[in-house]
Amino acid sequence: MAEVIRLRVKRQDGPGAAPYWEEFDIKYRANLNVIAMLQDIQQNPVNAKGQKTTPVVWGCNCLEEICGECAMVINGTPRQACSALVDKLTKPITVEPLSKFTIIRDLYIDRAKLFNALKKVNAWIPIDGTYDLGQGPKQPPAKADWMYKLSQCMTCGCCAESCPNYSDKSDFIGPAAISQVRLFMNHPTGQLHRDELVDNIMGNGGIADCGKSQNCVRVCPKEIPLTTSLADMNREALKRWFSRGLRF
Ligand code: SF4
Ligand code: SF4
Ligand code: FES
Repeated sequence: MAEVIRLRVKRQDGPGAAPYWEEFDIKYRANLNVIAMLQDIQQNPVNAKGQKTTPVVWGCNCLEEICGECAMVINGTPRQACSALVDKLTKPITVEPLSKFTIIRDLYIDRAKLFNALKKVNAWIPIDGTYDLGQGPKQPPAKADWMYKLSQCMTCGCCAESCPNYSDKSDFIGPAAISQVRLFMNHPTGQLHRDELVDNIMGNGGIADCGKSQNCVRVCPKEIPLTTSLADMNREALKRWFSRGLRF
């Protein structure tokens, strides 16, 4: 008989509904990942008791750890389901939705809070795109390397999930948005808006809400140096605070 892997799924029928656990047995095959297990359930929604059930709902898109959409808590750790290989997970495997966001259904969450944080800090370079601007200014390779690392953030929410200071009740924008401010204020064009970008992470919900627990950097699937970004932006905020005459 083919080996089966037990998958425990924390389910919820809608926002605010009571959560419940349901177990599934999935046929093992080489290179199986958590997304493929969920796809199996989608095709044949029968639980481990042999009862017909509703298909489990989750989000995914790229299937190669780029879009951030499939973040969930797997065996207690926030991470991407598409890169979670069954061979490397302890069994039974447990999957839960990220707890810091509104649950739309089952493992599918509303990540709007993460994108709203990027809007709040203006995480972009304002340029006039109506004509060809030509090549941008060249950057030293070492700087381009660390900036490229920061640019790999996929707004997945794993860092926010692990952060004790981030919740649906707090205004804290979280480490990902702060790290993006560091990226854009170091961009040759973004430097023109340096003060404004730093101002955006000062005040309510900003960098001062970080408790420096360093949970975030440990779970980032892209290995973004979040604590370096947080320390750097703390220094920038302090400098700005002095330049503004000690006013927030
Ligand atoms: S270092 Fe700051 S942002 Fe990171 S987990 Fe701790 S409190 Fe949250
Ligand atoms: S910093 Fe890392 S963990 Fe946080 S949202 Fe970006 S990719 Fe995800
Ligand atoms: S599906 Fe895009 S990160 Fe997993």
